[in-house]
Amino acid sequence: MSDQAATISRVSTEDLDFDTARQRYEQLAAEITEHRRRYFAEDAPTISDAQYDELMHELVEIETRHPELKNADSPTEQVGTFSEAFTPVRHLEKMLSLQDVFSTDDVRTWAERVSEEAAGARYLCELKIDGLAVDLVYENGRLARAATRGDGVTGEDVSANVATIKAVPHNLKPADGFDVPELLEVRGEVYFPTADFNRLNEAQVEAGKAPFANPRNAAAGSLRQKDPAKTASRPLSFISHGLGSLSGFEPQSQSHSYAALEAWGLPASPYWRVVDTMDEVFAYIHEFGDKRHELVHEIDGIVVKLDDIASQRRLGATSRTPRWAVAYKFPPEEVNTRLLDIKVSIGRTGRATPYAVLEPVHVAGSEVEFATLHNADQVKAKGVKVGDTVVLRKAGDVIPEVVAPVVVARTGAETDFVMPERCPECGSALAPASEGDIDLRCPNSRSCPGQLRERLAYLSGRSCFDVDRMGYIACSALVQPLAPAEPVLQDEGGVFDLHIDELLPIKVVVRDPDSGLPKIDPKTEEEKVVTYFATKAGEPKKTAVQMLENLDKAKSQPLWRVINALSIRHVGPVAAQALAEHFGDLDRIIEADETELADIDGVGPTIATAVKDWFTVDWHRDIIERWRAAGVRMRDERPDPAQRAPQTLEGASVVITGAISGYTREGAAAAVKSRGGKVTSSVSKKTSAVVAGDKPGSKYDKAVKLGVSIVPGEEFEQMLADGLPEGVESEAE
Ligand code: IVH
Repeated sequence: MSDQAATISRVSTEDLDFDTARQRYEQLAAEITEHRRRYFAEDAPTISDAQYDELMHELVEIETRHPELKNADSPTEQVGTFSEAFTPVRHLEKMLSLQDVFSTDDVRTWAERVSEEAAGARYLCELKIDGLAVDLVYENGRLARAATRGDGVTGEDVSANVATIKAVPHNLKPADGFDVPELLEVRGEVYFPTADFNRLNEAQVEAGKAPFANPRNAAAGSLRQKDPAKTASRPLSFISHGLGSLSGFEPQSQSHSYAALEAWGLPASPYWRVVDTMDEVFAYIHEFGDKRHELVHEIDGIVVKLDDIASQRRLGATSRTPRWAVAYKFPPEEVNTRLLDIKVSIGRTGRATPYAVLEPVHVAGSEVEFATLHNADQVKAKGVKVGDTVVLRKAGDVIPEVVAPVVVARTGAETDFVMPERCPECGSALAPASEGDIDLRCPNSRSCPGQLRERLAYLSGRSCFDVDRMGYIACSALVQPLAPAEPVLQDEGGVFDLHIDELLPIKVVVRDPDSGLPKIDPKTEEEKVVTYFATKAGEPKKTAVQMLENLDKAKSQPLWRVINALSIRHVGPVAAQALAEHFGDLDRIIEADETELADIDGVGPTIATAVKDWFTVDWHRDIIERWRAAGVRMRDERPDPAQRAPQTLEGASVVITGAISGYTREGAAAAVKSRGGKVTSSVSKKTSAVVAGDKPGSKYDKAVKLGVSIVPGEEFEQMLADGLPEGVESEAE
């Protein structure tokens, strides 16, 4: 167990001879037992759930092939474990675990097996809450005891701590139709709300304590405090998901029991659903797979149960899991990996951002090697050190994030990160842009090769000049060549004046695309160097010629793209479009005063100040002049005012719903805008009118509810010609 990496390497179990299989089996069983102890007894796992599942998977595979290896101590026979810090208590009825499956095909196989015993049964789908299982015993309606799961037979008495959780009633409420039973053993999950988790970890680190790896550990750590007052200070909550021993209540179905629990004041999840078919089960799995990050607690899968209790009884359970339920586990979004280094990158506006260099791992569908750490304060708040094993999370489409270090896996060789004092690209002293700014910046905006490379890469990108063949490496070559000594560009002012003859001598070091390290020439044993824009024979490469041609074409891109390409702090595509639309001419933007800029929809005071500041810098204005001289577009062609449609909808805010005959959705919106109106997507009291075409959606209902005036689709053209119908205010308050 001393070597962390050894615990997560997977061995192919096929074709193992018996002795090797036995050795591997024993090694795995010992590792898993140790990981279970860390997880259940210490709330401090050193591997991720997915890595644990993988070890278990391998163990099960060996057991299936060699059943003679299995004994009563096998991890496949265990349900959790317990520590000795709390008084042990025996559960009235054994607390089972769930059989995990990892594909919808396996859910179908389970359903087919189940249907042999319980044909036509209905399924209850619910969320698999990533928390901590507890067992509550109510005697004559009073909470008599609360315990953790422990090994399923015996748990730990955590009554005093559970009593501090607001969602757990001390007394059951009498309810119509549901007499309070003499004895009620309720099973459920204690969880830590996701939104509170980051705050808790920051506070932990600030207090010099180890952060929790995830909300589940935070829940477990908070519940198993010696001092219940400590538990009370944490925002723990509870959701019921089953029953144990009962007297005085005989539920007919799982859903019937949830209705009773709710009536007595014990929360069930608001999301359970009873369905008839497997297609509906899969629809539920997909629905909550998409929504999993919108919930108050984390979920790691979906639990499917037979709703009917008689069928549950008929199917029974193995020593560990019921046959009448299955847990579909979502693909993992969290893995553990090693933080190899923390480096600092310089952005296009000079911001110095620490980022994690990780031992590459596969998570949520992609290979991750780097993750931003935002700023030095964040590194501190997360409590990570270089060399740590860390929890890496990549939730859906969200960018990968280092959540926390696995403190118990530390060897002592880890080192604290120190934010560099100087820019790693040009050596200038880093400093905050203004007082109180947590970000450090490189002040050498004009010629820091890092900043200029990033600005060029942005400028050639999709949301600016969109210059094909001018990728990141080409931009690096233009600003950081190995030779000649002086790069061809001092700043982006010269980008449209580049000439092929200047490009030909540019040499760069060839780097490995994965590691970023220089490649070594095996013959000379020196770094491999090539001319980037010229062939070996010294001729221009085709891509270099194409890049220059594309730069030439890019000069006629619309004004908003030109503005966006200037890399003005806070000005992205949205603000650039707002500025271009309002002024139509770069010179008018330069002349505009700050109040006028700030008043524009989509601009505001922060951007207005940034724009004004940017144009006061001499070399910035030189960029404009060099681009202008090169023929870059500085103003948009506007339709002749005489040709403009009459502004019948000036000041009106219009919502369009349903299909309008003769118009596409975009066409209808453009028609409103060309008459001076604004088109918005949601209905509010401020909406002047809702145009309701064929098959209108919920926006129609909302308009009716709010009393917003409705224009039928057939009257759309009349509205364009004459303005809003009588009695409708164009600027409704
Ligand atoms: S039912 C007899 N339902 O997952 C059925 N368990 O991996 C046993 N869990 O020990 C549990 N959400 O702590 C059930 N909706 C849910 C659940 C759930 C989370 C936990 C529970 C269980 C573990 C098994």
